[in-house]
Amino acid sequence: MIEHIQPYINYLYIVASVLFVLGLKKLGRAESARNGNFVSSIGMLIAIIATCLLVGMEFKWIIVGMIAGSAIGAIAAYRVKMTSMPEMVGLLNGFGGLASMLVAWAEFHKWVTMGWDQYYLTLGAGAPNSPLFTAIAMIFTAIVGGVTFSGSLVAFLKLAELMPGKPIQFAGQQIVNALILVALVAGAVIFCRDPSAPIAYQAFIGIMIVSLVLGVTSVIPIGGADMPVVISLLNSYSGIAAAAAGFIILNNVLIVAGSLVGASGIILTKIMCKAMNRSLANVLFSGFGSASGKKKAADGVQGEAKPISAEDAFLLLEAARSVIIVPGYGMAVAQAQHSVRELGELLTANGCDVRYAIHPVAGRMPGHMNVLLAEANVPYEQLAEPQDVNPVMETVDVAMVIGANDVVNPAAREDESSPIYGMPIINVDQAKTVIVLKRSMASGFAGIENPLFFKDNTRMLFGDAKASVSALVAEFKNI
Ligand code: TAP
Repeated sequence: MIEHIQPYINYLYIVASVLFVLGLKKLGRAESARNGNFVSSIGMLIAIIATCLLVGMEFKWIIVGMIAGSAIGAIAAYRVKMTSMPEMVGLLNGFGGLASMLVAWAEFHKWVTMGWDQYYLTLGAGAPNSPLFTAIAMIFTAIVGGVTFSGSLVAFLKLAELMPGKPIQFAGQQIVNALILVALVAGAVIFCRDPSAPIAYQAFIGIMIVSLVLGVTSVIPIGGADMPVVISLLNSYSGIAAAAAGFIILNNVLIVAGSLVGASGIILTKIMCKAMNRSLANVLFSGFGSASGKKKAADGVQGEAKPISAEDAFLLLEAARSVIIVPGYGMAVAQAQHSVRELGELLTANGCDVRYAIHPVAGRMPGHMNVLLAEANVPYEQLAEPQDVNPVMETVDVAMVIGANDVVNPAAREDESSPIYGMPIINVDQAKTVIVLKRSMASGFAGIENPLFFKDNTRMLFGDAKASVSALVAEFKNI
């Protein structure tokens, strides 16, 4: 029976690949993102079933692996808090890299045990009879997979605050990294010259170990603030490693899926860098978030912040005809999105035009605010991007900043010495009145002072965002 299905497996792979692409396209819009995830999952199910139909599969171990992996994944996904999603994604990328590295190792082991001629037959019809091609694919997979695994673990530990988020830099770091690269190239040459020689096995093991070291040494000098970008980059690496593994075992759908992950990860990385007005090189090598950067920007901010009570904030909002709400990481921490939606509805009922302005890097992961506001059923048509609201900001009665800080920091526009200078921001300081909801005068992710808090038209409503918004909701309900 299975033999009859064999010729059609590639057709199933094409269906799966089309579903991946359609799913990715749908992920581009908040309204269709859930559906996009579902469509891609169906594609993955088809790809898995089709692969299981390949002759010679060890079903017993595949089923054990699938049950154990699915159970762990489902429990972890169910338990993870929305604010911890970036580290979970980081960990999953890492496992993707580890899986690819293990595929390379297992295939190489098979090659060594069987000899090339026998191993070549296991690759199936159409495989190039080229030991060099397969050797390059194996070594490339092992290197990229290893770097992805250990790099993602460090990113996870930094984001979960299980290790210091500060950039870890030491004298001669670049030299160490350069030596590691030289060792990898030398090992790869030794391996590819004659993969069946005993020294090739040692070179392969050595390369896996050194790749793991490279993953650690390349991520530790990057500050915790930049981890979401690093995770997106490592996500791209995990796709590249998977595609390379696809070239070892000549599995078309693995090559397609890996390439899609590789390409989308790098596109997302670029979008994030652009939203922060920084180059990828600056993110990877500048040690952003180190103490010196923080001190420099804190200097020069003068004035006094003007705290207000929830009652006073209510009076401002009640009189406003237009309000722009700018959510940030603090809204996620406080889980205030449902109260925020309720407040938005009460303002609208009061005859006010309400919009939510979402900055592309607000929060701690791409689309963080969109996800939270969608969860709270905020209507999509009320969501706006910075370029929609900035030109009309001067006409807005109240800009309400809920747990956002860096993404509304006017230093990005005004202070050339600021580490975030040039980053596009939401210009809330240009609204007639700004109400900032946060717990203290503490800085945000970038660790820098925010002159917005000291401007004449800014009022500070101190407290947990959920408690403050709920107090405003209660005031509106008492009208
Ligand atoms: P942040 O600048 O990190 O500021 C968040 C603010 O929320 C803090 O100042 C904090 O002040 C406040 N806060 C925390 N918990 C709160 C609570 N329970 N109630 C009320 N306020 C609370 O956030 P942002 O404006 O969203 O900016 C995001 C930052 O992350 C940017 O620097 C961005 O470059 C960086 N980043 C983001 C991404 C993505 S993809 N989103 C990727 C890389 C980097 P208090 O402690 O005083 O309350």
